Amino acid sequence: MKFAARMLGTGSAHPEKRLTNDDIARKISQFGVETNDRWIRDRTGIRERRVIDVQNSAETNSSLGTQAARQALAMAGKTAADIDQIIYATCTPDTIIPSTACWLQQKLGADRAWAMDINAACSGFIYGIVTAEQFIRSGHAKTILVVGAEVLSQFVNWQDRSSCILFGDGAGAAVLEQVPAQTARRLLSNHLLSNGDLNGLFLIPAGGSKLEVTPERYHQNLHKIQMNGREIFKVAVRTLVECAQQALAKNQMTIGDLDWFVPHQANIRIIEAVAERLQFPMDRILINVDRFGNTSAATIPTVLDEALRNGRIQNGQTILFDAFGAGLTAGAVLLRW
Ligand code: ACO
Repeated sequence: MKFAARMLGTGSAHPEKRLTNDDIARKISQFGVETNDRWIRDRTGIRERRVIDVQNSAETNSSLGTQAARQALAMAGKTAADIDQIIYATCTPDTIIPSTACWLQQKLGADRAWAMDINAACSGFIYGIVTAEQFIRSGHAKTILVVGAEVLSQFVNWQDRSSCILFGDGAGAAVLEQVPAQTARRLLSNHLLSNGDLNGLFLIPAGGSKLEVTPERYHQNLHKIQMNGREIFKVAVRTLVECAQQALAKNQMTIGDLDWFVPHQANIRIIEAVAERLQFPMDRILINVDRFGNTSAATIPTVLDEALRNGRIQNGQTILFDAFGAGLTAGAVLLRW
């Protein structure tokens, strides 16, 4: 291959509206469901999350994605006219048809691009940048915008205390650019996997073509998230460790060769368990789950963007992204910034 892909710029956006753990405790008490700040902090590390304002019809998945994309383009020194391709990773699209990528294209005015969504749930941003990398390496595109964005607040069952406390809304974006194959600052390798046998661990049963949302199913909350949290926890730790080890082995690296580890932000205890198994020091792991909860495809690009903007990540540093999500999907990307 003559080409490689380099990440040139990132951006992120969250809604203004904060939902603290106490806010959730108050909200769900109306359904006779109990939780409290202490339990949520101890079991998940989450203190608050951001959610869209449903009264404001302009605040949507694609409006958050657009804010993040504009920042990423500015950091990359690009404009919307430079984009060849838009890849939008989301499982909570503005609409089922058209794709959220097309809504974003319109908002950005990226007229030259072609645009598509991909759904790999929380692994979506990783799947997005790996997909972008293939088009760049094969010479089909020079500049690709990848967005990972979710509005999970609209799919949460507020009567299920084990899942409704976990999620928040947000968007992250990255601009990838074609560079010569041996450029030092580039995506170094990727490792994707999925296991459809685990599709029942995290599921929204109704609302697709398989199961229409009837009044009865609506009252049963079948159009909302159903989750087996305990089982996901175990699979997540195992899978994140496996993907990280594969990425290191492929590049003949050890933990000591990495400057930063950027895992999917689902639960601080999952991150701590992975760090312990990999023997990765916590102070080199980027974390925002405490402030934003699990924003699914947006967690990795948002926490990355924050660390770039506050100067924690420096040019030439080596970063490992590692994600798992519903599907089950999972994947790691190793890159030199
Ligand atoms: N407040 C108070 N008590 C609660 C709450 C709550 N919000 N939720 C559960 N409990 C109770 C349970 O009812 C249970 O009570 P019991 O012992 O009387 O039965 C007790 O707390 C322990 O429940 P567990 O489910 O064992 O708690 P656990 O420590 O496993 O934490 C959690 C639950 C937070 C869901 C954890 O399992 C987890 O984070 N799993 C991963 C979830 C995840 O990552 N989902 C997204 C993946 S896919 C994607 O990202 C799109």
